[in-house]
Amino acid sequence: MDRRQFLLSSVGALVSAVTAKTGLDWRGKRLSAQETRIEEMVRGPSITLRSLADKVGIDIGAGGINTVPFYKDPDYKKIIAREFTSLTPGNAMKFGVIHPRNNYGDERDYNFEHADAMLEFAEASKMKVRGHTLVWHMQNPRWLDQGNFDRRELIQVMEDHIRTIVSRYKDRVFAWDVVNEPLTINHESIPIFQGIGPEYIPLAFRFAHEADPSALLFYNETQAHNLDEKSNMVYEQVCNLLDEGVTIHGVGMQMHVSLRYPPNLVQVAKNMRRLGNLGLKVHVTEMDVKTETIDSSTEDKLEKQAKIYGDITKVCLDEEVCTSIATWGVTDRYSWLKEFTKNPEEKPLLFDADYRAKPSYYAVKRKIAERVVKI
Ligand code: XIL
Repeated sequence: MDRRQFLLSSVGALVSAVTAKTGLDWRGKRLSAQETRIEEMVRGPSITLRSLADKVGIDIGAGGINTVPFYKDPDYKKIIAREFTSLTPGNAMKFGVIHPRNNYGDERDYNFEHADAMLEFAEASKMKVRGHTLVWHMQNPRWLDQGNFDRRELIQVMEDHIRTIVSRYKDRVFAWDVVNEPLTINHESIPIFQGIGPEYIPLAFRFAHEADPSALLFYNETQAHNLDEKSNMVYEQVCNLLDEGVTIHGVGMQMHVSLRYPPNLVQVAKNMRRLGNLGLKVHVTEMDVKTETIDSSTEDKLEKQAKIYGDITKVCLDEEVCTSIATWGVTDRYSWLKEFTKNPEEKPLLFDADYRAKPSYYAVKRKIAERVVKI
């Protein structure tokens, strides 16, 4: 946000605050009591996203939480604790980070330091924690990727890994992304998948469930929110898992979207509903909206982004099956997309690089506030 936009948005906030106070809009038109309440909730400086989310019983999660700013930038933690009801570590629980060695065959092979620190912080801030992720094709340690394990050994490795982590955080991590992006990869190139075969999925769920029977277990996938071939495959796979009697509680829709490819709201809602009809929950697990994919002014991009965030919030509130929306990162200052897209101009999140609330933040708040008023 440049200075002019900042001023405009500050003026906007001020106008709304005055509006809410007087019950008149900026033209002097009287607002209904309901509209006034909504304005108060959206712009009231002491009303946080978190306090509104609590009122409607939905989780608003700070996902993709990164260790570097977590340790170095006090403002990062402040905003997470103030605005969000749950936290998902970005990397601290990934195989390569939490299980970097295979020398001893016991807990000495693990590095719990960062995951522990994030859990302690979340608990001190009265936030829930989503665990991400037990089995994925990326960010695995070299000893696993390049090890020469046979099938039986690989199952043992996966079992030890899952049991160690899930039981360590038993009753503290409320939901796990047990398998991440199972349909996105070239299985041939990854030993854990190639070596075990498709059975790694039911096995992973079984090990996780045995280690913490009260944790919610998710199948997390990317680019499978609209109705299409990929989301049909997710649907089919989770149907099969349920038929086999596997304990699975939900599907995670990552929701990495962009202004160029916004989600199709009708399809997302239908997709959520069909999963709900199976008795599953849906979490939006990693939402971000890439701005630098269309040609337009920054102001226009931020408004379009806000519409997408607001729309998905509304879909999630409308569909009972959807109980959590987490963004992947909190501030544009540290989004993973700056590196991933190699574009330092990316602004995918709810807070700008200086931690100021963006139109997207207010759009999410507004949709929740509208729901609060309707209750
Ligand atoms: C990303 C992290 O945010 C980055 O810090 C890391 O360098 C790469 O992985 N889908 C996922 C997440 O499931 O685990 C990824 O997280 C983003 C895409």
